[in-house]
Amino acid sequence: MPTSLADQLPVYPAGNVGDAPLEHALAEIQELKRQRNAVILAHNYQIPAIQDLADFVGDSLGLSLQAQRTEADEIVFCGVHFMAETAAILCPDKRVLIPDLDAGCSLADSITAEQLRAWKDEHPGAVAVVYVNCSADVKAEADYCCTSANALKLVQSIPSDKEILFAPDMFLGDYLRTNTNRKLHVWMGECHVHAGIRPRHVEEVWADYPEADLLIHPECGCVSQVMWHLSQGDFPADRTHVLSTAGMVAAAENSDANEFLVATETGIIHQMQQRQPNKTFVPIKADAECEFMKMITLDKLLNTMRGGIHEVTVEPDIARRALRSIERMVAVT
Ligand code: 13P
Ligand code: SF4
Repeated sequence: MPTSLADQLPVYPAGNVGDAPLEHALAEIQELKRQRNAVILAHNYQIPAIQDLADFVGDSLGLSLQAQRTEADEIVFCGVHFMAETAAILCPDKRVLIPDLDAGCSLADSITAEQLRAWKDEHPGAVAVVYVNCSADVKAEADYCCTSANALKLVQSIPSDKEILFAPDMFLGDYLRTNTNRKLHVWMGECHVHAGIRPRHVEEVWADYPEADLLIHPECGCVSQVMWHLSQGDFPADRTHVLSTAGMVAAAENSDANEFLVATETGIIHQMQQRQPNKTFVPIKADAECEFMKMITLDKLLNTMRGGIHEVTVEPDIARRALRSIERMVAVT
């Protein structure tokens, strides 16, 4: 029988967390959370130990909604910088902390506010929709913001005579264009982790698990081809689901299937396995790891809880302008 937490959870880091043994560090984080009246929000790609410590684990939309609803004084955001920035804009009366300010996002870095302004100038009258994976100053230039959980619904809600500019993810953009039939111009940005999940990876793994359901994040480099295979009847439509990370976790819970092939960052498998210990989850690409998400470690979280560092702030004028597109995002659930 396991005797300690570390034995029960072999995926936790071995050894000390900073100057404290693992179990002391976990207890100290919980105690400091209580003392600081803080809430810990974690994205589905965080390391298992942080997912297990968090008050809420979810996708970008769910985390924004939780930030908006919390009564805590401090939000400790275990995710990447744009997510913490979005929480800071939504909750100006709270302190938003991130354990590592350098936890960025390759997709968010693929467009600047200046580039979006220039693109809008080329398409006067078009509506600018940005995916939440972008900086606050890009959101400030946009009309609407969306996440993977509500992108389809949000694009469909825009008057049909409007041309749409969608940035920065090209795979999600192409997915939206295919599924809405809208005149939609797509920025050629990508997430390096998801772009690397190719159609051949899906074909290879599905051949080994022919009865499994396929769960795909719309940022994946395989999504357009999977949609094409679906339209040709080559892939089973009832067992193929394009979803946000929280949508994938919920689909695994609600489906009768026992095996799931997971096309996204592998950190999500811990969340799925915790909720459904008797089901099998297989990553489509086992090395699909986001090094930015993994910059949030227990050591850094402990430092954040002890020292109240590092606060994420947004320049007031940018925050005011970005809030409009973010409020439109959280209104579509
Ligand atoms: P979700 O909002 O679906 O969790 O996606 C966020 C993200 O960064 C995906 O790479
Ligand atoms: Fe950004 Fe990709 Fe990491 Fe998501 S997985 S945070 S999109 S770099």
